[in-house]
Amino acid sequence: MRFSSSALLGSALLIGQGLCNSNPENKPRAIPTPRWDTPTVPNDLQAFSIEFAFFPDYAGNKSHPNEFSKNLLTNFKTLTGVPPTVRVGGDHSYYHPDQKENVELIYANPNNDQPDTIYYGPAFFESYHTLGNVKFFHGLNLNQNRSIQILQEAAIEACISIGPQLELFELGNEWNFAPGEYRTANYSMLDYVHEWNQKAAAVKAAVQKACPGHFPGFFAPSFALLNFIKSQWSAEDLFKLGYDPHNLIKELSFHNYMGVNEPPNNPPVDWDLQRLLMNHTSIQESLATQIQRAKNLAYLGHPYVLGELNSIANQGITGETNTFGDALWLVDFSFWAGAHNIKRLHFHQGLDYRYASWQPILGKGQPPTTRPPYYGQIMVASALGHSHNARVVNIPLNEETESAYAIYDGDRLSKLAIVNMQAFNETTTGTRPSKEYKFEVPGHYRQAKVESLIAPGSDATEEVTFAGISYDHDLAMGKPVVVDPKEKFVMIEDGVLRVDVPDSSAVVVSLN
Ligand SMILES: *[C@@H]1O[C@H](CO)[C@@H](O)[C@H](O)[C@H]1NC(C)=O
Ligand SMILES: *[C@@H]1O[C@H](CO)[C@@H](O)[C@H](O)[C@H]1NC(C)=O
Ligand SMILES: *[C@@H]1O[C@H](CO)[C@@H](O)[C@H](O)[C@H]1NC(C)=O
Ligand SMILES: *[C@@H]1O[C@H](CO)[C@@H](O)[C@H](O)[C@H]1NC(C)=O
Ligand SMILES: *[C@@H]1O[C@H](CO)[C@@H](O)[C@H](O)[C@H]1NC(C)=O
Repeated sequence: MRFSSSALLGSALLIGQGLCNSNPENKPRAIPTPRWDTPTVPNDLQAFSIEFAFFPDYAGNKSHPNEFSKNLLTNFKTLTGVPPTVRVGGDHSYYHPDQKENVELIYANPNNDQPDTIYYGPAFFESYHTLGNVKFFHGLNLNQNRSIQILQEAAIEACISIGPQLELFELGNEWNFAPGEYRTANYSMLDYVHEWNQKAAAVKAAVQKACPGHFPGFFAPSFALLNFIKSQWSAEDLFKLGYDPHNLIKELSFHNYMGVNEPPNNPPVDWDLQRLLMNHTSIQESLATQIQRAKNLAYLGHPYVLGELNSIANQGITGETNTFGDALWLVDFSFWAGAHNIKRLHFHQGLDYRYASWQPILGKGQPPTTRPPYYGQIMVASALGHSHNARVVNIPLNEETESAYAIYDGDRLSKLAIVNMQAFNETTTGTRPSKEYKFEVPGHYRQAKVESLIAPGSDATEEVTFAGISYDHDLAMGKPVVVDPKEKFVMIEDGVLRVDVPDSSAVVVSLN
């Protein structure tokens, strides 16, 4: 993901629900029930996107598999019963069938976050065999136009090597940046439609020959959020122009970021953490365009996913996106997206990225470590659990620094998730404030289990736990380790559940 333009033009978006439901006496709140059209939330909502250049760092290779990454991914399978999906994609990768090295990264400046060019060879595909039971999307470069044959060879290598774990191909990344970037300034959306249709057909023909049987299909168009760029390309128009005439697309993918890292213009990190990330209003605003587009494109019948996303584009901001506050952002963002029919969230990762869920190997002096956002992902996966019919309904609250969701298993209320995003610094002395939440729950419930997502503060970068469990690298290489065995329960009296949620923390309350 690379953004150059100054961004996030004040998008005039309609915020439908949530803010005006004042509740001054702190009376117990009624919990809304799902409507006939409340979507189910797949329990593999939490997913990953790994920048092409850094996939070998995350996965390792056959002789040196990255066990830490494997363990962190396996935890999702344990919590949900479903293997997580990993999209391997991004900019500027060129396949060289004769290359010995797995990847060769060409940096304009060695301190840059991203290489300008990535050459990869067949050995790259070893990295698809080290992470265990994971579903993969492999990115093909639409700009690899030396010849159609090379594009086909890359696709064939992917289908042969990745085998049944290859779920989908992606063909082109953020191609709405193409005019003036990968193509002439007058390259039109219709030119793109023709180019994609032609190359997608060529990929399909080659793959079907080399790997007979079921053709995986594509995840597309993988456009960057339009607010960020000047292009007038809209996905609605794209399909009207004859995109994908043979219905090779299986999932609609769009990218999403809340803001952009553009030094030296970045605001102070602690201020921005509360303003941009730990802010339910700003999360609703960020997702409003996606939610509307998902509705506009629903007639196509494809799941709508965020194929690459994270908090702040250009790899995040130290002190903001690597903190526990970012984990709270991730939880609220994920539930709001899931409640509004977005089917999967591929949180973007790369070595040394400042928003990454984990640092997979030593890089820029930083050893392998599990970062706060990972714990946000674990909380959401755990809340959805093994349900095949989870439905999430927002419970409107008063403040923009808080949010709550009811999680249904079919029609049965099974859990509540509450996020208190009021900033609390880890260095603050004195007692940590907390807020009491009261909900009316069905009368037969007597008690509920409480699992907390907590850290020393919103600015903390370490000592995060969910349900008393740490997934730290140094404890057990990312496997779960119980560090706080104390189970927490709350009593339900006269059909009213009360739970205290400390500032800068979140809870999952399970009714049983
Ligand atoms: C596998 O990874 C190790 C460690 O990064 C590296 O030394 C080795 O060359 C790699 N092997 C291949 C075949 O790329
Ligand atoms: C691919 O072709 C287009 C024109 O057809 C050209 O503008 C672009 O630079 C080419 N890209 C590469 C990497 O060769
Ligand atoms: C697009 O611009 C190129 C030069 O940049 C020109 O050669 C070409 O004719 C233009 N195409 C159209 C359709 O205007
Ligand atoms: C939360 O975001 C909204 C919308 O961007 C903004 O108006 C509001 O000031 C933000 N709240 C805080 C506490 O910064
Ligand atoms: C947290 O600490 C920063 C830096 O000292 C300060 O600017 C900010 O106001 C503090 N925030 C809270 C909520 O105490």
